[in-house]
Amino acid sequence: MLRTHTCGELRAAHAGTSVTLAGWVHRRRDHGGLVFVDLRDRHGITQVTFDSDVDAAAFEAAHSLGHEWVVAVDGTVSERIDANPELDTGGIEVRVSALRVLSASQVPPFEVSRELNIDENLRMQYRYLDLRRARMARNLRLRHEATSFARAFLDREAFLDVETPILTRATPEGARDYLVPSREHPGRFYALPQSPQQTKQILMVAGVDRYYQFARCFRDEDLRADRQPEFTQLDMELSFVDADDVMAINERLMLEMSAAVAPHLRFRETPFPRIPFDEAMARFGTDQPDLRYGLELVDLSAVVAGSGFKVFSGTIAKGGVVKALAVPGIFTRKQIDALEETAKQRGAAGLAWLAYEAEGVRGPIAKFLSEAEIEGMREHASIAARQAESEDGGAMLLFVAAEAAVAHAALGRLRTDLADQLALIPDGELACCWIVDAPLVEWNADEDRWDAVHHPFTAPRPEDVAGMADDPAAVRAQAYDLVCNGYEIAGGSVRIHEPELQLAAFGLLGIAPEQAEEEFGHMLEAFSYGAPPHGGIAWGWDRTVMLLAGERTIREVIAFPKTLVASDPMTGAPAPVADANLKVLGIAVRPTKDEPHAQG
Ligand code: AMO
Ligand code: AMP
Repeated sequence: MLRTHTCGELRAAHAGTSVTLAGWVHRRRDHGGLVFVDLRDRHGITQVTFDSDVDAAAFEAAHSLGHEWVVAVDGTVSERIDANPELDTGGIEVRVSALRVLSASQVPPFEVSRELNIDENLRMQYRYLDLRRARMARNLRLRHEATSFARAFLDREAFLDVETPILTRATPEGARDYLVPSREHPGRFYALPQSPQQTKQILMVAGVDRYYQFARCFRDEDLRADRQPEFTQLDMELSFVDADDVMAINERLMLEMSAAVAPHLRFRETPFPRIPFDEAMARFGTDQPDLRYGLELVDLSAVVAGSGFKVFSGTIAKGGVVKALAVPGIFTRKQIDALEETAKQRGAAGLAWLAYEAEGVRGPIAKFLSEAEIEGMREHASIAARQAESEDGGAMLLFVAAEAAVAHAALGRLRTDLADQLALIPDGELACCWIVDAPLVEWNADEDRWDAVHHPFTAPRPEDVAGMADDPAAVRAQAYDLVCNGYEIAGGSVRIHEPELQLAAFGLLGIAPEQAEEEFGHMLEAFSYGAPPHGGIAWGWDRTVMLLAGERTIREVIAFPKTLVASDPMTGAPAPVADANLKVLGIAVRPTKDEPHAQG
């Protein structure tokens, strides 16, 4: 080894020992006859001291060390009089007798030694420097620990880790596929897996019984803070289980893993509450509710159904709803305008409001409302409790009158924005729940057909099967999503394992028998050779680690993420390829008007 210890290892008990350390020059301070260098590696930082009286040559050379040079030093561990309590190694220093420069560094484009707001493209372009920073090194380690924990946990539960193909056939998970052209079969394409859904089910038919895999998945979709074009699932499938079994084992994994790798985090409620999909929509406006705070949607339809304010009564007469958020405190006009803008972006026609103050009730719509309506809403929306929470003794109602889906989308979004603005979100908390009883299908008005809410392999609840043909919207799925702090971190279901029911499900989704045979014939055939009842789940591993790390984007917990336009500033991917390479694939690129995105 080129070193005897790491930079995080030495303590006062090592005093007097001769050691060799190697690492990066984190900081250098020159003090007359002394040069202090903070030497850094992944394990920590150790102060190494060059004294002109100890070794004049090393002392001279130390003067020219730049940030991020890689050096090795020989020396003796010595206790520090001025111990640095911020470092694990702060009780000692290494007094250097010899210095070897192992490699020099250009001046880095940003400082590794300080946590600054650095342009994210620059961070991605120089990811190897970015990953040297303490925060990123910590995130990489946490990810490793979470993954190791989950592997050991699943091993104890008798799961087999099985690899599934990357060059495969499209499986419907709702996004666009990444395609790979075939040289052997010109004009044909593999699809990169959006998930190993079909292969893992076929593994159940193969008798694997319990499967898991850390599976890389690929989806060509619009990217966001919690979405990358390639991401990792902790994917699993189990035979001879029901929904409760899958939820129980995964809930235990979440609880035990968090306790092991992020013990400072507290769970808000255990066992995790199970919330039916419809209830989540009604109370939080979303099927991914953040349960770390209240601020639930209040349904005031009954109170204002006969109102003289036609925006309200007219909407209800047309089958819509009037729902509101009751917030502590009084907003300014400017703040309300901004909130209304957000509501409109989500499809609402406007955002009506009422201010309940000590002096009385005001707002542009107050004159259209009766005393009974104003007082009924005060009661119904627990205005007194909101007033008690506010500094100014006031509270507001923010209303959206619309069809339920629009009201939920708009108010659900306002709810999360307001929680941030009003600082309602407690630190260090994980609020997890299971969303259950989601509908099996939803109407796709653009395409004029039913779409699977999860995927076409999800089983309907047995008591709902009979209604599949007549009232598809009422059929509930045997599905469960694990939602934590407003993110869907895992989703799964009990699967269909009978070929006839699978065919019926395809039929409901408008997949004709010939197309089903062409695209999914292998699954139907597999099911005809003895398929066990089975179910499974897949965790969005990046999102899970993000929450454990307290980060706000998954890019912070992925070693080499892509930008929001799916590019990699470090390698320049995606890149053009030589015509000759395209030719053997039988591919010609048509020039497009839009320049391809460079970086962004
Ligand atoms: P689903 O599509 O819900 O289910 O995916 C499972 C989990 O993967 C995460 N996820 C993503 N994470 C980052 N970037 C993305 N683009 C992205 N897309 C999804 C989410 C999500 O909950 N085959 C089914 C699982 C099953 O039924 O067993 C599936 O893929 O956290
Ligand atoms: P109007 O009658 O259009 O002038 O609107 C009066 C108030 O009601 C304004 O503050 C609008 O933002 C609000 N408003 C209009 N339509 C709706 C709606 N569908 N839901 C909630 N508020 C609305």
